[in-house]
Amino acid sequence: MKPLTEQVHDLLSNTALLGETVIDATAGNGHDTLFLAQCVGPRGKVFAIDIQQQAIDQTNLRLTEAGYNHATCIKGSHAEMVRLLPDNLIGKVAAITFNLGYLPGGNKAITTQIETTLLALEVSVQLLKPGGILTILAYTGHPGGKEEANSIFEFANRLPASNFMFQEHSPTPLVINSPRFFVIQRK
Ligand SMILES: C[S@@+](CC[C@H](N)C(=O)[O-])C[C@H]1O[C@@H](n2cnc3c(N)ncnc32)[C@H](O)[C@@H]1O
Repeated sequence: MKPLTEQVHDLLSNTALLGETVIDATAGNGHDTLFLAQCVGPRGKVFAIDIQQQAIDQTNLRLTEAGYNHATCIKGSHAEMVRLLPDNLIGKVAAITFNLGYLPGGNKAITTQIETTLLALEVSVQLLKPGGILTILAYTGHPGGKEEANSIFEFANRLPASNFMFQEHSPTPLVINSPRFFVIQRK
């Protein structure tokens, strides 16, 4: 089976088309940001957010090495997306990705948190354009990870079915500490 991160990329590539605007809500080491930048090309726009300067630096470095300058890395919490992003993105974003948890190679004590993740998801669903997708990869092996994943599942299930499709693509069978993969698509 393909690694989950590749499955995420496969899905993102369906809507992160050339010229589109997309968001990486957890820039981390910049792998997803770089992938999105490749998908949307220089006429597209990528916004990448992370609370850690180390992640912003890593992501900027990765983009620079690849010769991309159409991605903007923003240091801050995705819970404050509304303040951090341009104000005209409501209903215009083709793909948004969240890869939760801690920064690989960084401080494992700094992880995404239920409250801020849910605030960011509330905004993200409003940013999606019709047909746009939101992918969320949630890890359950660190403290708070399982509860975060369960809250996301509940959040996604509460979205109005008239406007959104929600699917869980987690590996089966779900075993202890399995990562969970959620996909929300705006109709
Ligand atoms: C698993 S890593 C992301 C991996 C990344 N997508 C990549 O391709 O390398 C999770 C990231 O979420 C970041 N993070 C934690 N809380 C955050 C928040 N409230 N807002 C934005 N980023 C946050 C962490 O700093 C960490 O870099």
